[in-house]
Amino acid sequence: MAMTVSPFVPDGPARRFTAPAGGLPAALRAAYAEDGFLILEGFAEPWRCDLLRERAAELIAGCDPARPATIFSTRDQSHARSAEFRASGSGIAFFFEEDAFDAAGRLMRPAPLAINKIGHALHDLDPVFAAFSREPRLAAIAAALGLETPLLVQSMYLCKQPLIGAEVGWHQDAAYLHTDPPSATGFWIALEDATLANGCMLALAGAHRGALRQRFRDRGGELVLETLDPAPWPDRPVLALEAPKGSLVLLHGLLPHASGPNRSARSRHAYALHVIDGAARYSSDNWLQPAPGRPFRGFR
Ligand code: FE2
Repeated sequence: MAMTVSPFVPDGPARRFTAPAGGLPAALRAAYAEDGFLILEGFAEPWRCDLLRERAAELIAGCDPARPATIFSTRDQSHARSAEFRASGSGIAFFFEEDAFDAAGRLMRPAPLAINKIGHALHDLDPVFAAFSREPRLAAIAAALGLETPLLVQSMYLCKQPLIGAEVGWHQDAAYLHTDPPSATGFWIALEDATLANGCMLALAGAHRGALRQRFRDRGGELVLETLDPAPWPDRPVLALEAPKGSLVLLHGLLPHASGPNRSARSRHAYALHVIDGAARYSSDNWLQPAPGRPFRGFR
């Protein structure tokens, strides 16, 4: 997709707010409506961030390195060819950093320093992530954003490893979780300080009012990233969504966002949960479909 500016160089920092005790006051709802994102500092206490990090470490310790590794890359869609990727929608799967392998395809570092992400049903299958994902304060924020019947559809533990953490190209989350009307909303929690140096998110402020540009969909059994609108992204300021540990970042599903590679010595762990509105029609050709007998569930 065309980008006329260097993709990972921001024009400035995004504004941040203190997380409210409950719901979202009108001023914060207005900021979200204006920018398409909202950074709420101090949402999760440091010990709760550490609890998720410890749980992720346990899951990674139990991951079998002998199995064929799935590499996560947004530069090409090679993961789309992997049946494992589709299965991960309703499971807990491990994706590796592309640069964790040598030219011969051998893993060059231990799994805890090679995993790119864990996805995509931690919120349903893992008790620690399930409890965090369904806490009442998140439900109150979802209600304040106007999600009538919120359904938790996808979760990811993102590692953004030191030195080899891969970039994530410019995209809209609604391309991956399509509903009519659009309703996908991201709840992204910084489990460590996310800074420009370790690859924090970047966003085109206010560009969530534009059209959906792409769709990642099932076409005859193959997962493909389809371009709906090849126009360049709107000319909006690129803001760095720097987020101290414990921040909750809300992301509108149509907001173009990205993150640069992590070349620093510090990891950038985060937990991302995606919610749709059950009042909207969930597209039957979305890559992610509910597991048989396990329909998407809300916050309760
Ligand atoms: Fe995203």
